[in-house]
Amino acid sequence: MMNKLFSDQTVLISGGIGDIGYATATEFAKLGANIALCDLLPEAEATGLVNGLTAYGVACSYQQLDVTDAKAVQAWVLGTEKRMGIASIIIANAATATQAGIHEITPEQWSRELSVNLDGAFYLTQCATARLVEMGLAGRVVFVGSWAGVKVHPHIPAYSVSKAGLTMLCKCLALELAPHNILVNEIAPGYVAAGLSGRVWKEHPGEKEKSIQKVPVRQVMTAEEVAVQIVYLCHPQNKHMTGATFLMDGGLSLL
Ligand SMILES: NC(=O)c1ccc[n+]([C@@H]2O[C@H](COP(=O)([O-])OP(=O)(O)OC[C@H]3O[C@@H](n4cnc5c(N)ncnc54)[C@H](O)[C@@H]3O)[C@@H](O)[C@H]2O)c1
Repeated sequence: MMNKLFSDQTVLISGGIGDIGYATATEFAKLGANIALCDLLPEAEATGLVNGLTAYGVACSYQQLDVTDAKAVQAWVLGTEKRMGIASIIIANAATATQAGIHEITPEQWSRELSVNLDGAFYLTQCATARLVEMGLAGRVVFVGSWAGVKVHPHIPAYSVSKAGLTMLCKCLALELAPHNILVNEIAPGYVAAGLSGRVWKEHPGEKEKSIQKVPVRQVMTAEEVAVQIVYLCHPQNKHMTGATFLMDGGLSLL
């Protein structure tokens, strides 16, 4: 019989149509959670993905929005609460990565990347956790960071800086919310054979194998493996970890 660990809970996932976001939604749906996704894709084009989640017998909604629009994020959080109940699990996952070094990246690209990856995560978690505090409810927040926030990545500086910022946002929010029984953690994957890295590897054949050889455990991970770890951070038995960054990078950051 399927374990319905998260029955009657609602999970918000930004960038939920992306590879890691959707894999995370699927893991939560399998465990009985209702799912609210947002992403840039028009709603009509997300129908198949929404149906893929409702097949697990849960409610699922999708909203097209840009996470850099604080008002739109707030409207999504409050609208989801009306339709599906207050979200007790919040996954800040949306991100972009611009491959351009410090002297190549334009000020507009720099600002956009910081805005999507850091401001967007702030808008979502600020609004959604404020509602939990108002209602006196417990909750879980997971930021999807990256090992690029720990190790210098000169070819993607804005991404690297945004992910380092996310780590400190995680700690600030964790301390603020600890007395409210809202635990806040970050997962920082290394190379994932999907999403952002997956697309780079498709464009540059041979890069995937080179990346695998760089990883101390000589493996890259799947989006599903990242998703399982995100769910683990939200497990009810995890009652004491907060403000932590979980490096899931096969040892890359040790080099
Ligand atoms: N793939 C990797 O190797 C890897 C490694 C470490 C960390 N990560 C992190 O995992 C998370 C998910 O990335 P992914 O690899 O699944 O990539 P992805 O591109 O498949 O998913 C990211 C999603 O975010 C959405 N998004 C981008 N800008 C947005 C905006 N302004 N508003 C709303 N949605 C927006 C995209 O449309 C996309 O669907 C990101 O935070 C990324 O930094 C990925």
